[in-house]
Amino acid sequence: MAIQQRNDLSTPAQSPEPPMAAIDEARLHELLGKAIVDFGATLQAPLVVIGDKLGLYKALAAAGPLTPAELAARTHTAERYVREWLNAQAAGGYVDYDPVSGRYSLSTEQALLFADESSPAFLIGAFQTAVAAARIEPKLVEAFTSGAGVGWHEHDDGLFHGVERFFRTGYQAHLVQSWIPALDGVEAKLREGALVADVGCGHGASTILLAKAYPRSTFIGFDYHAPSIAAARRRAEAAGVADRVRFAVASSKDYPGADYDLVATFDCLHDLGDPVGTAAHIRQTLAADGTWLIVEPYAGDRVENNLNPVGRAYYSASTLVCTPSSLAQEVGLALGAQAGEARLRQVVTSGGFTRFRRATETPFNLILEARP
Ligand SMILES: C[S@@+](CC[C@H](N)C(=O)[O-])C[C@H]1O[C@@H](n2cnc3c(N)ncnc32)[C@H](O)[C@@H]1O
Repeated sequence: MAIQQRNDLSTPAQSPEPPMAAIDEARLHELLGKAIVDFGATLQAPLVVIGDKLGLYKALAAAGPLTPAELAARTHTAERYVREWLNAQAAGGYVDYDPVSGRYSLSTEQALLFADESSPAFLIGAFQTAVAAARIEPKLVEAFTSGAGVGWHEHDDGLFHGVERFFRTGYQAHLVQSWIPALDGVEAKLREGALVADVGCGHGASTILLAKAYPRSTFIGFDYHAPSIAAARRRAEAAGVADRVRFAVASSKDYPGADYDLVATFDCLHDLGDPVGTAAHIRQTLAADGTWLIVEPYAGDRVENNLNPVGRAYYSASTLVCTPSSLAQEVGLALGAQAGEARLRQVVTSGGFTRFRRATETPFNLILEARP
């Protein structure tokens, strides 16, 4: 692409334009290429959600190579839509296309991302989250100007379901296998029978996984969002753990109970308006030798540490959801989803905890342990 510098003398001289920096064509083309990939991915995101809702990925994974007509017949959908959808998927590399047979298929790896809910690489929830979060844009334009918050509860319902599915993938892969064992003495207490509070539990994905793994323990999930608590109760019934799990609507600063052996906050501390007030309440409700498990998005302490693909996703989600959520609540500390360990340590110790350490980590999460 030829881009001409505007340094001709034909324009009137009364308002001279600042001299334009020389354009590096290679850098420009590299940036354009990247933005066009992102543009296609943005448009493809709702198609991923549609494919999931209509069972297109799962049907393709189950049946092997199919023509658009065959996939449409199996999923009771219209062939013309399905054909266009398949071509978008194939262009994005999410589905394979064989030009000889005219059939489309999912490789083993593609199926792990898009068709297998139990896979550690299952990514549908991430797209569901992104598409639902984007719907807040008109309100957010106003919020940017006024500085007001936008509450978690003001989002499209798809956000609550998307976050549940997205985060559950990570919890399924790590929570019982490595995060709990990384905490000092907690696994043994859970096996024997402990009292656990899961604060800001959302749809209860983490609560239910723990309840399945440690049947002698008792779990109470708290969240301020009543529809999420109703969903969590349904999930616990369906999972057969309702005998040891309860859910209640309560805020992180005034949930009831005392002498908890373990209080957990999964990916919600930074969403809260008053994380220091929450830390103080958790400190008060913990047993003397109890543990606070803090799962937060992975982040370095400095902005420049987070300028990478994971940081990009988190900063974007934080701008759309997490920061406005905190600003909508009392105090409005607005930690953001990339607060980093040093900032989180300040919050936790300001709430009265004396011991704080990074127990473990994944590329997506910091797993932190706080003790009185
Ligand atoms: C990103 S979601 C995480 C949900 C869940 N912990 C999980 O990992 O799937 C954040 C949760 O914090 C909850 N929340 C926000 N502010 C809260 C508050 N002040 N008290 C209790 N829960 C709150 C929201 O309703 C939401 O369910």
